[in-house]
Amino acid sequence: MFRIVFFCLCFWRLDGSVTSVLVKEGESVTLNSGVTEIKGDRAIKWRIGTEDDDWESKTLIAEINKRDDRIAVYDDVLDGRFRDRLKLNNQTGSLTITNITTEHAGVYGHNLYGSISNVHLAVFVEISVKEGESLTVNSDLTEIKDHDWIRWMFGNENILIAEINVKADRITVYDDYLGRFRDRLKLDNQTGSLSITNITTEHAGDYKLKMRFSIKAFRVSVSARLPVPVISRDCSSSSSSSSSSSCSLVCSAVNVGHVTLSWYKGNSLLSSISVFYRHMSLSLPLEVEYQDKNSYICVLNNPISNQTQHLNITQLCHTCSDSVHCYGPTEAVIRLVLSALVGVATVILLVYDIRSRRAERDQAHIHTSET
Ligand SMILES: *[C@@H]1O[C@H](CO)[C@@H](O)[C@H](O)[C@H]1NC(C)=O
Ligand SMILES: *[C@@H]1O[C@H](CO)[C@@H](O)[C@H](O)[C@H]1NC(C)=O
Ligand SMILES: *[C@@H]1O[C@H](CO)[C@@H](O)[C@H](O)[C@H]1NC(C)=O
Ligand SMILES: *[C@@H]1O[C@H](CO)[C@@H](O)[C@H](O)[C@H]1NC(C)=O
Ligand SMILES: *[C@@H]1O[C@H](CO)[C@@H](O)[C@H](O)[C@H]1NC(C)=O
Ligand SMILES: *[C@@H]1O[C@H](CO)[C@@H](O)[C@H](O)[C@H]1NC(C)=O
Repeated sequence: MFRIVFFCLCFWRLDGSVTSVLVKEGESVTLNSGVTEIKGDRAIKWRIGTEDDDWESKTLIAEINKRDDRIAVYDDVLDGRFRDRLKLNNQTGSLTITNITTEHAGVYGHNLYGSISNVHLAVFVEISVKEGESLTVNSDLTEIKDHDWIRWMFGNENILIAEINVKADRITVYDDYLGRFRDRLKLDNQTGSLSITNITTEHAGDYKLKMRFSIKAFRVSVSARLPVPVISRDCSSSSSSSSSSSCSLVCSAVNVGHVTLSWYKGNSLLSSISVFYRHMSLSLPLEVEYQDKNSYICVLNNPISNQTQHLNITQLCHTCSDSVHCYGPTEAVIRLVLSALVGVATVILLVYDIRSRRAERDQAHIHTSET
């Protein structure tokens, strides 16, 4: 059927210090060296560590040293978490990490010609929830230690919505941000996990958990409760092009977003239409024969749920089945008025005809009587 492909490479800054990259698990990311060519006999080194590590205490994972004619990736370090995942561009010195997992999150630094820059790579986890449900986003911490400072941020603007500062002995939930989180946030003071109750589509977006040494990111999508699609006889469709034994139908769903509407004949898909972001009304036509004995269903679905409506041909196609043409209410009224007019005109003509015949006969009488 259909597959939604997300790709996001979003850059943001936390605290204005280190540039960050947000990548989805399983995808690849290229960390740029910032130059188009490693010139002369220069060198570049890539290291990984945490925000607290200085350059030397990070682990070396790749380097180009033109003087020693050395191009190397050290993908066995750190228990082999980078094995077969590193690609170093020998021209630019840029480093590509493929098939990313949460283990690859961290601060990547490169030292080019003696100048060091860092980029914080966070790996986001996708979470889908239905409107009205509650969600707990796990920090995966078992306990909060003395020096910990945990901050939860929402959206591209990194609005602070909750924090635990153990040193300052402070647990705060800032749930008045635009009012959308009011009375909905709960922060677990043992683990730092965040709960959001009674979720609405307003709560969809990126959530970031900034801990002392790492960032966790979550992309939350919220699907609205799906209405049951409605099947009706399509009387506006011109049936002149099709044979009189077929019946035009339409399946529709009003004010929906991020959904697909489909017609199935038995188990096979006949047609479908999708809307991704905007909320709008969808409709999908179907033409069947009156005698068709197959079972047809119209399905409205989003990535996590669906609603089905069965087609009853006998019931729906019955209304116009005795007429050769199918027509809408306006057309029906026009036809009725026209037939009425024709009827009236016929009566008038008939009466006129009878009268004039009588008159002729009477005149004939007169003639005969005169002669
Ligand atoms: C650089 O990479 C290209 C393509 O990956 C390769 O053909 C070339 O031999 C490499 N050069 C060196 C000096 O390793
Ligand atoms: C990506 O990594 C996961 C976990 O290590 C592994 O199971 C999977 O086979 C990898 N996929 C590819 C395409 O290499
Ligand atoms: C943590 O929360 C529990 C219940 O919500 C409360 O009883 C406890 O006092 C809290 N601990 C701290 C340190 O705030
Ligand atoms: C959930 O949120 C909706 C929309 O804000 C509200 O109408 C409804 O009363 C809430 N339900 C509960 C159980 O709080
Ligand atoms: C609708 O959802 C049910 C489970 O909720 C699933 O078994 C069924 O295959 C889905 N139907 C379609 C057409 O996606
Ligand atoms: C279809 O509609 C007809 C007429 O309303 C009814 O008699 C019949 O039981 C319906 N069939 C199904 C499968 O619901």
